[in-house]
Amino acid sequence: MTNKAKLSYDGKEYEFDVLEGTRGPKVINMSSLYSQTGMFALDEGLTSTATCKSEITYINGEAGELRHRGYEIEWLAENKTFLDVVHLLLYKELPSKERLDAFRYELKKRSFIHEGMHKLFDAFPDDAHPMAIMQASVAALSTFYPDHLNMDKHEDYMEMAARIIAKIPTIAASAYRYKHGYPMAYPNLDRGFTENFLYMLRTYPYDHVELRPIEVKALDTVFMLHADHEQNASTSVVRSVGSTHAHPYSCISSAIGALWGHAHGGANEGVIRMLEMIATPDRVDEFIKRAKDKNDPFRLMGFGHRVYKNFDPRAKVLKKLRDQLVDEIGIDANFMKVAQRIEDIALNDEYFVSRGLYPNVDFHSGLILKALGIPNEMFAVLFVIGRIPGWISQLVEQKEAPLKIVRPRQLYVGK
Ligand code: ACO
Repeated sequence: MTNKAKLSYDGKEYEFDVLEGTRGPKVINMSSLYSQTGMFALDEGLTSTATCKSEITYINGEAGELRHRGYEIEWLAENKTFLDVVHLLLYKELPSKERLDAFRYELKKRSFIHEGMHKLFDAFPDDAHPMAIMQASVAALSTFYPDHLNMDKHEDYMEMAARIIAKIPTIAASAYRYKHGYPMAYPNLDRGFTENFLYMLRTYPYDHVELRPIEVKALDTVFMLHADHEQNASTSVVRSVGSTHAHPYSCISSAIGALWGHAHGGANEGVIRMLEMIATPDRVDEFIKRAKDKNDPFRLMGFGHRVYKNFDPRAKVLKKLRDQLVDEIGIDANFMKVAQRIEDIALNDEYFVSRGLYPNVDFHSGLILKALGIPNEMFAVLFVIGRIPGWISQLVEQKEAPLKIVRPRQLYVGK
């Protein structure tokens, strides 16, 4: 089989290399399109464009397959913890028990934030959205660690990665506590990564926080299932900003901005808002009708995905966990009935089936976070905690095989 693709236009023929990865569709290397033909490619929304080579995450949307460094997400969710997956993404292998303990200890050591950061939290108005606080706080980390701007050694990058992964839960909990006027909480070094985050959300001075294992397991799995998802919108932002050699904290802060959008990480918050708006199971049909109406901007939140057109493997894992959590700790029964009715109708409705619109990870994670008593406005923040290791791993990978500055072109249609 030839490894060249031919393009003919206006009586001329051009050739392009066809590249093959270890899995997934072949790729036509179009980087010489302009120099050969004087034309650009137009691909609005980048639906057919691979923007980099990567060995971190593989997705087969048709088969509902997601793998990190070769490991299937279902297997990881069944057998490993979030920190194992963080290690896998960053260090390219699952840790041994000893290595995992050392890694956990390293993150604990770094989990405190500079006391100067508190002045920043204090300055935000009470109704500030925690995602805006996250974005500003992560950008502000660069003022405390300016040496991270000109890193060129791999070890420096890994130190920066551990620092940000460790501090993000503390920043997230602080954003929440300041917003509600709760007393500041420091990390509890006797607790594991995910357990400590839940503790920081719930603790009060002189109070003992008891966490149920199912709660920790559910949140840890939510973090794990969000850890990386190849070149999604926010990760593409990390790579684009990183290609300018901007400060790594600036890259992450930009990605938080991208993730906030309700078509991306804001969707699980949107799911709960939608369920609250529908309110009772007998109103579901009316909203399904609205979701199908092209003249109505309403969309069924938590349904559909750019890549998964059959099912989202993360949603499968979370649905099981959601049911377990609801059995053990309960959730507003009416809420569950509305959610279940939406699922039942949409999964059998020609409109949704023919367009490959299935419940995505956000549909179930929204309900899990609701059951954990986490306020809606914190949902996307939790997505950030989960996704940070993916963003950093992609940034480190890009650093090791530098890209040109990302600089797309356009089809000019103006005056
Ligand atoms: N409700 C109703 N119709 C929908 C929905 C939905 N949730 N999602 C897509 N469609 C329809 C579109 O109207 C379109 O119909 P048409 O072909 O008749 O014009 C068709 O399905 C294809 O939709 P696109 O918008 O072209 O698909 P795209 O891949 O660009 O969008 C997206 C994917 C953004 C996730 C979309 O499905 C959506 O808005 N879903 C709701 C928000 C959501 O849940 N986002 C979370 C994504 S997962 C994540 O970020 C972790």
